[in-house]
Amino acid sequence: MNILVLGSGGREHVFATKISQSPLCSQLFIAPGNAGTANCGTNLAISPLDFKAVANACIEHKIDMIVPGNEDPLVAGIVDFIQSEPSLKHILILGPPQAGAMLEGSKDYSKAFMKRHNIPTAAYLSVTLDNIQDGYQFLESLEAPYVLKADGLAAGKGVLIEPDIAQAKQSLKEMLEGKFGQASSTVVIEEFLHGIEMSCFVLTDGVSYKILPEAKDYKRIGEGDTGLNTGGMGAVSPVPFADDAFMNLVKQSIVEPTIKGLQSENIHYVGFIFIGLMNCNGVPKVIEYNCRMGDPETEVVLHRILNDHVELYKAACEKRLNLIELKVNPQHAVTVFLVSGGYPESFDKGFEISGIEYVQSATVYQAGTKLDNGKILTNGGRVIAVTASATTMQQALSLAMENAEKIKFDKKYYRKDIGQDLKQYYESI
Ligand code: AMP
Ligand code: GLY
Repeated sequence: MNILVLGSGGREHVFATKISQSPLCSQLFIAPGNAGTANCGTNLAISPLDFKAVANACIEHKIDMIVPGNEDPLVAGIVDFIQSEPSLKHILILGPPQAGAMLEGSKDYSKAFMKRHNIPTAAYLSVTLDNIQDGYQFLESLEAPYVLKADGLAAGKGVLIEPDIAQAKQSLKEMLEGKFGQASSTVVIEEFLHGIEMSCFVLTDGVSYKILPEAKDYKRIGEGDTGLNTGGMGAVSPVPFADDAFMNLVKQSIVEPTIKGLQSENIHYVGFIFIGLMNCNGVPKVIEYNCRMGDPETEVVLHRILNDHVELYKAACEKRLNLIELKVNPQHAVTVFLVSGGYPESFDKGFEISGIEYVQSATVYQAGTKLDNGKILTNGGRVIAVTASATTMQQALSLAMENAEKIKFDKKYYRKDIGQDLKQYYESI
């Protein structure tokens, strides 16, 4: 099969690596890709949001399957587009139609979906400028802190957690007046959930599904979970508190009703569902849905899946997932992101990267990198994810750290405490 991966991050380098290892893959293309994906296939200088260019590339390269990495093309309707074009509709595409991607594209839509299907989540109210007074009242009915979410996609920045009511009211007004542009013309006000977060991943063909290994990501820039939010500084899988009893609850109270709910609403959801969960004293509640895999969670979750990935993805597109047995590496995987100093605020690009060839017993997934005359240069904030696997999380972290040290570029920064908050759980099992 000829396969096209859409995107340019670490997640897409994982997809490209796994796909290129499959005997079912003849030619692999990545649009636009990075310096790492160029080792797995051919990078195409195309934006995944330019559907016309994607269509032309599919025809030119006789693409049989598309694997979208990030949410933007899915929320913009790339699946509906491919399936409605006579010259493209034979192409398998591992993603949901727009109506399914809206579970990520609109917080209001996803909260209403959860309410319709009795899926446990935080109490909420959706507000616009027209009913801002109801918003103030709802805030007064809640306890601090207060959670305010821009309804639309806001590049991961649209969630504010305010410590007091006056600040919450002020922020609600600012958001509705355009703090995040059109994305916050509707704001979802939520009850604050106390607990510990984790991520659950589901691959579905619309009818049957597989729960993939769970993960925990580390979003803050600083050690000890301090400082600004980032796209993710590292991740671990498995998560020690996600034991069989907890995952059974997740399956019964969240995954099953989500899949059945999509079916009952005639949404033919194919692809990944990434469910952000809060473990509230043993009770799982949904924080958010995403219509794709996470980054850096993919660097540990798909990294642990031993199946032929093309066979797995093709089975999902062809509604044959029930025939596949998921094979998961039982070892602990840890990934650590090397980022460019200054990230997630302003940072420079174009620093030469060296030392990748010295990495041993770990896997390098590249993200913000590009090739320039045979050199690999930094080309983004999150530059390289180093993933290691071992019998214990601590051994995997040490391996990741040893190898992270070997890769050099100016202003490199990474967190050395990925997974350390979970130590208490490892020690108790
Ligand atoms: P979201 O984009 O909805 O995942 O929100 C971003 C982050 O805000 C989450 O990963 C949580 O850390 C936090 N968050 C969101 N909603 C809540 C909530 N209802 N209670 C507590 N924390 C929340
Ligand atoms: N790591 C979080 C995300 O991919 O949204």
